[in-house]
Amino acid sequence: MTGAYRKIIEVLEGQTVSPPPVWLMRQAGRYLPEYRETRATAGSFLDLCYTPDLAVEVTLQPIRRYGFDAAILFSDILVIPDALHRNVRFVQGEGPQMDPIDAAGISALKGEGVLAHLAPVIETVRRLRRELPEETTLLGFCGAPWTVATYMIAGHGTPDQAPARLFAYRHPEAFERLLSVLAEISAEYLIAQIDAGADAVQIFDSWAGVLGEKEFEAYAVKPVARMIEIVRSERPQAKIIAFAKGAGLNLKAYRQKTRADAIGLDWSVPLSFAAELQKDGPVQGNLDPMRVVAGGKSLEDGIDAILEKLGQGPLIFNLGHGITPEANPDHVTKLIERVRGAAA
Ligand code: CP3
Repeated sequence: MTGAYRKIIEVLEGQTVSPPPVWLMRQAGRYLPEYRETRATAGSFLDLCYTPDLAVEVTLQPIRRYGFDAAILFSDILVIPDALHRNVRFVQGEGPQMDPIDAAGISALKGEGVLAHLAPVIETVRRLRRELPEETTLLGFCGAPWTVATYMIAGHGTPDQAPARLFAYRHPEAFERLLSVLAEISAEYLIAQIDAGADAVQIFDSWAGVLGEKEFEAYAVKPVARMIEIVRSERPQAKIIAFAKGAGLNLKAYRQKTRADAIGLDWSVPLSFAAELQKDGPVQGNLDPMRVVAGGKSLEDGIDAILEKLGQGPLIFNLGHGITPEANPDHVTKLIERVRGAAA
C-alpha cells in the first residue's frame, strides 16, 4: 500500500500540512561522518552508487539520524551518461569527468542496455522501500536532459556551461537529438524507480539558470515536459517534483508547461514571488545552504521567513540547493526542530 499518509505525498496532492514535511537535497553526503566512513570503504563513488548494500546504508543514514520526512535514493544524475558508455569517473577533489561527446557521438548514441546497467540502482530502490519506516516518503530522481547534457558535452563541470551553450548554437540538430534521447531514457528510468517503490521522483535541472529565454523554453521546458508526459502516460498516478535552479521569473510558466506536481525553488527566489507560485500548486525550498553552514540567528531567521511566507500553503521544506560538506550536522538538528516546532 502506498500511503497517502506520507506527508510529502499529501503536499504533492495539493494539501497544506502543518508543520510542513522536511528533507534536504544531498542529505546523504560528506557533511555526515557516517557517510565519509562508508564512502572510504566503497572504492569509487560509482561503486557506492552501484552496490545496493552500501547505497541503502548511506540513504538510511540521514533518516536514522534526523528522521527526515523523505529519503532520497543514493545515486547520481551522471549514472545515465555512465550507462551510455561515456566513461564517467569521479576524481577526488576534481568533480565528475567523462569522455566529451561530439555530434558524431550523439548520432551513434543508443539507449539500449541503459536500464540493465542501472539494475543495481533499481534494486536499491526496492530494498529501501522495504527498509524505510512506513511514514517516510521514498524519492527517486534523475537529472534533467539539459543538465546531464552539459556534463556530457564539456566532459566535466564548468562554471557557466559555456561549452554546452556553444555546442547548442553550432549544432542545434545534434543537440536536440541528445536532449530527446536523454528525455526518453530518463523517463523510462523514472518509471523503473516508481515501479520499484519510489513514492515520488524529482528531476534536477541544476543548470537551468544559464539559459537565455528561447533556450530555456527549448532545452529546459520542452524535454522535461516530454519526460513528465511519458511518465504520466505510463504511470498516471506518478508524483513529480521539478527543480530548475536559477529559473527565476520562468518558474510560473515552467510549472504550467511541464505539469510538474511541485516546483523546487532555489534561495534566490524572493519569498513574495514564491507565495505567488504557491497559489498555482505546491512548492519546495528554499533555504540558502550557507545558512546551514553559518547556523545561529542566520539559520533561524531564514527558516522563520520561509515558514511565515509559505507555511500556510502546500510546502515541502528544503534547501535551495544541496547541503554542502562544510555544513555542521548539529545545525541540521536545529533546522528540523525549528521547522517541526512551527505551528500553523
Ligand atoms: O543525498 C542525496 O541527495 C542523494 C544523492 C545525490 C548525489 N548527487 C550524491 C553525490 C543526488 C540527488 C545528486 C544529484 C546531482 N549530482 C546533481 C543535481 C543536484 C545538484 O547538486 O545540483 C548534480 C549536478 C550531480 C553531479 C555531481 N555529482 C557533481 C557535480 C559532483 C561533484 C561535486 C560534489 O558535490 O562533490 C557529484 C558527486 C556527488 N554526488 C557526491 C555525492 C554525495 C560527492 C562525491 C563523494 O562523496 O565522493
